[in-house]
Amino acid sequence: MARRPIIAGNWKMNNNKAATKELVDGIMYGVSQLDASKMPEVIIAPSFTSLWQAHDLIRNESKIALAAQNVNPNPSGAYTGEVSLEMLEDFKVQFVIIGHSERRQMFNESDEFINQKAKAILAKGLIPIICCGETLEQREAGVTDEHLASQITKALDGISASDVEKSVIAYEPIWAIGTGKSCDSIEANRTIGEIRKVVAKLYSQDTADKIRILYGGSVKPSTIVEQMAQPEIDGGLIGGASLKADSFIELIKGAM
Ligand code: PGA
Repeated sequence: MARRPIIAGNWKMNNNKAATKELVDGIMYGVSQLDASKMPEVIIAPSFTSLWQAHDLIRNESKIALAAQNVNPNPSGAYTGEVSLEMLEDFKVQFVIIGHSERRQMFNESDEFINQKAKAILAKGLIPIICCGETLEQREAGVTDEHLASQITKALDGISASDVEKSVIAYEPIWAIGTGKSCDSIEANRTIGEIRKVVAKLYSQDTADKIRILYGGSVKPSTIVEQMAQPEIDGGLIGGASLKADSFIELIKGAM
């Protein structure tokens, strides 16, 4: 069974109320012109403060799904500044990005915490987009594959095959994020193939064939077609190029 491609926009800490409206309206208009039967699964991940508004704007547009950029795995309680899955459910959030390198590096998130989040997200029937990626030092030291295997093995610890099949992984080399320097498509394809082998080893070839694995890191309208042509790359997790409707629509078209 072919894996349905995904184009996911990670807005990061961008877009106030006015900018959210402008961007969502632009994306809505763009997707209204596209043939739903050929479209990838389109996901936008606004910041928490824009989720309600984005949800309200897209409520009648089945071609766009919502993701959150983070979640706390605890159900409720004294976690100042955090947001729970129950809160996200109010906005019909279907995906949650976890393990992004910015959160691992700037907010000291551990593999164990990311695993707790993945389990909590799946227990609520939502889908985690589990990010992994190596630093430039790791790549130059030749330890990329083992580093990714470790991140993925820890993130999936204790999760059933049926939940893993539904999940999404995003391979995002840290040196390619926001740098304008995308990982070479052939190499991104090879690395994602290695991640799929890790899933096959932990579960089965069948599970590995079902999980969708995205590439992220300076994906642009000018790179997406070549990236999507790679058999292992099931789509993109896109930061900078997802912040303008025109370029996000070009990315969607590039995955059609
Ligand atoms: P970028 O970000 O497309 O701006 O490189 C990707 C990401 O961090 O998800």
